[in-house]
Amino acid sequence: MLHKKMTQALNEQINKEMYSAYLYMSMSNYSALIGLKGFSNWFMVQYHEEMFHAMKLYGYVQQQGEDVELKTIKAPPSAFKSPMDMFTQTLAHEQYITKSINELMELAIGKKDHATQIFLEWYVTEQVEEEENDNDIIAQLKLIGDSPQALLMLDRELGGRTATVPLDFSNGVAEE
Ligand code: FEO
Repeated sequence: MLHKKMTQALNEQINKEMYSAYLYMSMSNYSALIGLKGFSNWFMVQYHEEMFHAMKLYGYVQQQGEDVELKTIKAPPSAFKSPMDMFTQTLAHEQYITKSINELMELAIGKKDHATQIFLEWYVTEQVEEEENDNDIIAQLKLIGDSPQALLMLDRELGGRTATVPLDFSNGVAEE
């Protein structure tokens, strides 16, 4: 059983993670459109990561015997100025998600909800990794500057990213 406010906040987080998936799906599409198939792959893997984040919350709310409330997912931007623009927006979005996870944790602490605190610890750690990945790629893009050859080399590298999260939720949400 969860406090009503906790259930509401977790349901809002499901929506934020679904929007994240939608945002990265849009970036994947845009990358493909401008010929960067490796970037497109990287963002599609990120889409799967975000779906897993959403589904993990979905499973937890259900496990606690509460009702999952699926809200409208707003449309993401459909065009971007450059790879740097996409990753700058990605980092800003992840910083917003980190803030949101921290607020959830503060709510759980305030409600003395130990189970939710333990559950949220996974997200706290995950956000550090997410921001680190984005910072690393932004640093590489800065080094690349205006060099198309270097950009294509990074594109090849990002094309090698594979999903490490479960992609099939038909039997519930397995742990990563
Ligand atoms: Fe689900 Fe990228 O944070």
